[in-house]
Amino acid sequence: MARAASSAWPHLLLSLLSLLSLSWTPTRADTETIVLQAPHQVRSFLGNNATLQCKLQTQNSNVQVTLVTWMRPDPTGRPVSIAVFHPTQGPSFPAHPSFPDPGRLEFVAARPGVELRDATLAVRELRAEDEANYTCHFATFPHGSRSAGTWLRVLAQPQNKAEIKEDPLSQEPVACCVSTGGRPPASISWSLGGEPNTSQAVGPLPGTFTVTSLLTLKPSSQINLKNITCIVKHETYEKPVTLPVHYPPEVSISGYDGNWYLGQSEANLSCDAYSNPEPTAYEWTT
Ligand SMILES: *[C@@H]1O[C@H](CO)[C@@H](O)[C@H](O)[C@H]1NC(C)=O
Ligand SMILES: *[C@@H]1O[C@H](CO)[C@@H](O)[C@H](O)[C@H]1NC(C)=O
Ligand SMILES: *[C@@H]1O[C@H](CO)[C@@H](O)[C@H](O)[C@H]1NC(C)=O
Ligand SMILES: *[C@@H]1O[C@H](CO)[C@@H](O)[C@H](O)[C@H]1NC(C)=O
Ligand SMILES: *[C@@H]1O[C@H](CO)[C@@H](O)[C@H](O)[C@H]1NC(C)=O
Repeated sequence: MARAASSAWPHLLLSLLSLLSLSWTPTRADTETIVLQAPHQVRSFLGNNATLQCKLQTQNSNVQVTLVTWMRPDPTGRPVSIAVFHPTQGPSFPAHPSFPDPGRLEFVAARPGVELRDATLAVRELRAEDEANYTCHFATFPHGSRSAGTWLRVLAQPQNKAEIKEDPLSQEPVACCVSTGGRPPASISWSLGGEPNTSQAVGPLPGTFTVTSLLTLKPSSQINLKNITCIVKHETYEKPVTLPVHYPPEVSISGYDGNWYLGQSEANLSCDAYSNPEPTAYEWTT
C-alpha cells in the first residue's frame, strides 16, 4: 500500500506540472503580448544627464510601431508631449510649457528607418524642474498602444558643517549644524538630547535646500569633553554622515588658593583646557 502511494506521488506531481505548463504554453494571444520595459523611478543628480529607458518587448515581429511619444504633465497636471519619434521621419520635440529647452532631450537608441523598439530618452543637464512623472507611449499596429510611467527624480548632495557659536541674545553656546544645497532637504539630528531649532531655507542652486539646526548647550563647563555629534541623513548617502562639533578651547587656570606668599618654595597651577578635539599642546606665558 505504502509503495503504491509513494509511486503515485510522482505521477500526481507530473500531471500537476503538466497542467501548470499547459497553462503557460504560449497561446496565440500570448505571442501577441506587447510589454513595455521601463523603470518606475530614475534618480540622477542636478546638472547631470538622466536616461529614461523604455523598450518595447514582443515575440511578434509583425508588431508595427507607428509612433513613440514621451509626455510629462503641464502646469495644470495634464500630460503633454515633449518628445515624439516617428518611424520614418525621426524625432521631434514639441514646445512644452514645463520644458522650455527641448535641446536637452535626445532619443539615444531610435533611428529613422530602423524597426522602432527602443524609445530611451536622455535628458541632459538636469534641472530641479525636470523632476516629474514621464510617460512613454508606443502606438502599435495592429495591437493598439501601450504606455509606461517613470518618475524622474533630481537629487543634489548637500555639504555639511558643524561648529559652536554663541547665541547673540542669550550669549550661550549653541551647536550649529548646517547642511547646504541638498535636494531633497537633508535631515539633521544630534547625538545629545535637547530640542534643536531646525529651519529650512532655499539653497545656493535653484531647487536645493539648506537646513540649519541649532542646539542650545548648557554652559560649556557641563559639556566639557563630551562628544557632540551632528548626524546628517540624506538619500544620496549610503549611511548617515556624523560630524563632530569642533569648539574652541575654553582655558582656565586652577590651583591658586589665595594664599601664596613671597618666598613660598613652590606653587602649582594647572592649565585646564576643554575643547573638541582635545588640546594637543599647552604653552605658558607670564
Ligand atoms: C551629458 O551628455 C552630454 C552629451 O552626450 C555629454 O557631453 C556630457 O558629458 C554628459 N554629462 C555628464 C555629466 O555625464
Ligand atoms: C510621481 O508619481 C508618484 C506615484 O505614482 C508620486 O508619489 C510622485 O509624487 C509623483 N512625482 C511628481 C514629481 O509628481
Ligand atoms: C529658531 O531660530 C530662528 C532663527 O535663528 C529664530 O528666529 C527662532 O525664534 C528660533 N525658534 C525657537 C523656538 O527658538
Ligand atoms: C569622543 O569620541 C571619540 C571617537 O568616537 C572617542 O575616542 C572618545 O573617547 C570620545 N570622548 C569622550 C569624552 O567621550
Ligand atoms: C605640586 O605638584 C607636585 C606634583 O604633582 C606635588 O608633588 C606637590 O606636592 C604639589 N605642591 C603643592 C604646593 O601643591
